[in-house]
Amino acid sequence: MQIIDGKKTASEIRAELKVKISELRESLNEVPGLVTILVGENPASKVYVNMKIKACAEIGMNSKLEKLDENISQEELLSIIESYNKNPLFHGILVQLPLPEHIDEDIVIESISPAKDVDGFHPVSVGKLVIGKDTFKSCTPYGIVELLRRYNIETKGKHVVVVGRSNIVGKPIANLMLQKEEGANSIVTICHSAAHDLSYFTKQADILIAAIGRANFITEDMVKENVVIIDVGINSIDDPSSKKGYRLVGDVDFENVSKKASYITPVPGGVGPMTIAMLLTNTFRAFQKIKSK
Ligand code: GUN
Repeated sequence: MQIIDGKKTASEIRAELKVKISELRESLNEVPGLVTILVGENPASKVYVNMKIKACAEIGMNSKLEKLDENISQEELLSIIESYNKNPLFHGILVQLPLPEHIDEDIVIESISPAKDVDGFHPVSVGKLVIGKDTFKSCTPYGIVELLRRYNIETKGKHVVVVGRSNIVGKPIANLMLQKEEGANSIVTICHSAAHDLSYFTKQADILIAAIGRANFITEDMVKENVVIIDVGINSIDDPSSKKGYRLVGDVDFENVSKKASYITPVPGGVGPMTIAMLLTNTFRAFQKIKSK
């Protein structure tokens, strides 16, 4: 069994980008820029946003935090996004979700220019992904594809079973693995909570992608020998033996499933760190695309 080390892979990707950005600085005297828009005081969002800003700074990318009041009107938010759509210093725009209740997330996502949609959440990006056109892939699914590629895991003709159908992970990863291209070309099944017997599907997986949001949900009896496990879950469970009183676990019962797996991502340190690395990658690509126009 081999551990898929997302922390190490993400830091390799960041190091590669750092070199490319310093080359850009020398040749063009310009660097890619990301603006992160945070509305309100959601504590988890603040933590994520700070991680994104720090990651930009570490690789020499231009970044700005646009911190907005919880009570900002939707119109004001839309006009701020529009100003960044036009601002040549920023090539990527990320609006941290969730937004306060009075703001319609769909309208906000659709107001971001698809050319700067580094989250890959805009319907234009999603549509292009489905029909196999070049576009921004949303960061967590893109991170999974990159892990499989960098670990040389064969995907062609393999049965990928995705558990979960969210717009952020389940649906896009299923579409990515389905594409007729290298690093994909898989047979894909999507299953979810309405399945009468989930293990009927999960037992068939050569590559199992778990994005359910329930701690230790996938158990060893639900998978076959030599399965490749990609665990997207991040669940907090009580742990009196830890200082914090809790610890993070995935959707997969790592201790037992890892005994049957050929490859497995740990939680933490698997898929999680890849998300920000791919956000940086998307911002770099947004810069390249805007500059090549
Ligand atoms: N909130 C939780 N995850 C994400 C993400 O990947 N992008 C954005 N914009 N908001 C999030």
